[in-house]
Amino acid sequence: MSTPVSKSDPPKSDSVPPPRAQAPVKPGAKIIGTGHYTPERVVSNVELEKTVDTSDAWITERTGIKERRIAAKGELTSDMAAEAARRALASAGITADQLDMIIVGTISGDMPMPSCAAFVQQKIGAKHCPSFDLSAACAGFIYGLSIADKFVRTGAARYVLVIGVELLSRILNWEDRTTCVLFGDGAGAVVVGPTTEEEANAGRGILATHIFTDGALAPALLIPGGGSREPFSAEVLEKKRHLVHMAGQDVFKAAVRYLASASRAALASVGLDAKELDWVVAHQANIRILEAVSNRLEIPMSRFYVNIHKYGNTSSASIPIALDEALAEGKIQEGQTVLMCALGAGISWGSALIRW
Ligand code: COA
Repeated sequence: MSTPVSKSDPPKSDSVPPPRAQAPVKPGAKIIGTGHYTPERVVSNVELEKTVDTSDAWITERTGIKERRIAAKGELTSDMAAEAARRALASAGITADQLDMIIVGTISGDMPMPSCAAFVQQKIGAKHCPSFDLSAACAGFIYGLSIADKFVRTGAARYVLVIGVELLSRILNWEDRTTCVLFGDGAGAVVVGPTTEEEANAGRGILATHIFTDGALAPALLIPGGGSREPFSAEVLEKKRHLVHMAGQDVFKAAVRYLASASRAALASVGLDAKELDWVVAHQANIRILEAVSNRLEIPMSRFYVNIHKYGNTSSASIPIALDEALAEGKIQEGQTVLMCALGAGISWGSALIRW
């Protein structure tokens, strides 16, 4: 039988503590380290003029791209990813064996099976943590970040490595000027970990992620051959159906519309006005897409971080590369608010809002 406790009795050591004046903010997730890797070889628009029916003037004016990086012979997607990962781990100050999960956003992995993530895990020396690829093309990094955020936020994982990597130069049709001039190779990585209570209370960390897909637009950007629908055959090879096909204008229109709407969703979900943003680190696909999004959201281009002139469209790698460069250049400062948004094949798109 329990003894009744008078109001003046001191609380027993195992009794429930009285409620705090203010409920503690649940711990969240944040990016604790970033890194990127791009291949050494630079291919300029002028160099492309020699092999493709194009011009430096057309590419610069229509896309903002001046040059891109192309992987060396023998260099693998997993090599680039592993190097970006090592740099992100070093910047986070943790070791590979502390990782609870590896997510690799890619559509150009080393081979269809197993995942590129499995090779990355082995190359960086992370043991046994679940490692998988995520197919959301250019939105792959935002999708991966969204998943990592959920795992860390719920306490199911402490440290998640999110990589965006593409070796697109090996799956482009170098005779198709409407696609081959646009893309480049590279890798970017971040480590997602928990916020401290102090940071959570100060509203820092990953504030929101939103991801979307509209499968009706799948035909606008695809690699039609080489999968189970059109298995490899002489015909697939001859018609180059194992390479990237794109209806550029359809993708362009979808990008402007959906990057803006996903950005608005992110801002609305935390009650933030676009004017309060410090930086937009958007997918680097085309400078005209960024300008159109800047117009729609009424955020000046001076707040967009842009490096498309150096790398072209590196698909899922573009945001983590841009993020790492923006941090290294001292552009993104502690306490600042950063919006990220990306769109790619699927059509899949998404956004993430972070207070650094
Ligand atoms: N060099 C020279 N001329 C080119 C060219 C090139 N590399 N690529 C296309 N052209 C030509 C076309 O053949 C066309 O010629 P025509 O008028 O004689 O038919 C003309 O330029 C205009 O083509 P168009 O497709 O209307 O150009 P555009 O202004 O829409 O720009 C893209 C094309 C691909 C740059 C643009 O649509 C785009 O960026 N789309 C989104 C791509 C993207 O982001 N994809 C990845 C998803 S993240």
